[in-house]
Amino acid sequence: MPSLLILGGGPAGYVAAIRAAQLGFTTTCVEREPALGGTCLRVGCIPSKALLESSEIYTASRHALERHGVLAGPVQLDLARLLKRKDDVVNGLTKGIDGLLKKNNVTRIEGHARFTGPGAVSVTTASGETRSLSADHIVVATGSRPSSLPGIEIDGSIIGTSTEALSYPSVPEHLVVIGAGYIGLELGSVWARLGAKVTVVEYLDRILPGMDREIADEAQKLLGRQGLDFRLGHKVQSARVEDGKGVVRCEGRDPIIADRVLVAVGRVPNTQELGLETTGIQLDPRGRIEVDPHFRTSVAGHYAIGDVIKGPMLAHKAEEEGVACVEFIAGKHGHVDYDTIPGVCYTHPEIASVGKTEEQLKESGTPYKKGVFHYRANGRAHALAETDGRAKILTHATTDRILGVHIIGARAGDLIAEAVVAMSFHASAEDLARCSHAHPTLAEILKEAALATDGRALHS
Ligand code: NAI
Repeated sequence: MPSLLILGGGPAGYVAAIRAAQLGFTTTCVEREPALGGTCLRVGCIPSKALLESSEIYTASRHALERHGVLAGPVQLDLARLLKRKDDVVNGLTKGIDGLLKKNNVTRIEGHARFTGPGAVSVTTASGETRSLSADHIVVATGSRPSSLPGIEIDGSIIGTSTEALSYPSVPEHLVVIGAGYIGLELGSVWARLGAKVTVVEYLDRILPGMDREIADEAQKLLGRQGLDFRLGHKVQSARVEDGKGVVRCEGRDPIIADRVLVAVGRVPNTQELGLETTGIQLDPRGRIEVDPHFRTSVAGHYAIGDVIKGPMLAHKAEEEGVACVEFIAGKHGHVDYDTIPGVCYTHPEIASVGKTEEQLKESGTPYKKGVFHYRANGRAHALAETDGRAKILTHATTDRILGVHIIGARAGDLIAEAVVAMSFHASAEDLARCSHAHPTLAEILKEAALATDGRALHS
């Protein structure tokens, strides 16, 4: 049986390991952390979603229950228990991945892997032992880490990254978030709901760069109403601890003083300290491993997937690549459709997107039609008391093919799945509109938005 060695046990690596085992490879996965699951599971998607859920329940019990005619006594916050629940969720899921690898007979090695030459890897364990590994095929899936900016002095306590912001031991009085991207908005929302004053400092004149502008503007309005104080057009020059406080200085502005500073200005691939220079594997100017459409690097028998290669740094993109890469190695037909990878920001309401934005269509000169339908015109949204938001469908003006779908509103992250399926099958707006959508559901908002591209929405 051919052997396959995977470096990294995150969503790219562990999923690739399971698929490789299914396909009959003798599979080994090296991970330096004691827990599997990578950033996503340990200090990313999963713990942040646990905190978002708990903080949302806290806010809803204080402000939304009365609207439903439910009266409760004074609501209190037990932050230690809230954080422990988050840790329990993470621990349970990481153990689950351990179990999945065992079930699939994947050999798991704990330690830091480093190439010593093409096809040769040395692993150093926590206790300092080293062992040499080789395999017929080697897949690099070592993920990414938070980036910073010159002038920002991260001390891992008052000034830190998303990792620290998942575990502040008390609610900061004033939290300054640098960067209005996914991480900034999600973790900013968590601490705002738990009682912090949250200031979000962003270099651009808008939040959520890359998302459809109309939807991002709506998000800014709704999140602003929840208390997030956006300072747009602010270029951070420095952030450092002075007299026990975080001091953030922006070009041409007064300093902002905070109890905690969260730096959320993007992530960089983990391609250093890997000994890649000993292999001849080529990197692009942004430090990502260059791969061809079959995830092959410049060196035969070596592959790369997930955050270490180009494309959005998203867990589900990494998983797709893990499966496809191993299928290619096995001589099968792997496939990742990069045009239909959804993005979801799990604020309240959620923001979800797939395909082209209106700005991209304008820029490329693509003739398009647009259909918008508001949550306030949907029956289920009223029953849920979730009437903020809208769905927007963009179609090709002549073929009616769906080119992009953008949603802000309750459960947008779940609703976007229908748009992904429709786009994957190259559906037209008419196809989607003619599908029966159960009543009363939020999914009817998408059907109506599809009708609206042709000026035929029924309920607006
Ligand atoms: P991001 O790239 O989404 O946002 C970073 C923000 O920082 C941008 O708006 C940028 O304009 C701003 N910025 C950069 N330099 C600045 C400066 N000097 N002063 C002020 N603002 C500045 O990065 P983020 O939020 O750190 O997320 C990292 C990665 O993790 C992303 O690729 C994201 O896709 C992924 N992620 C995905 C999540 C999800 O799918 N729900 C959740 C969290 C992260």
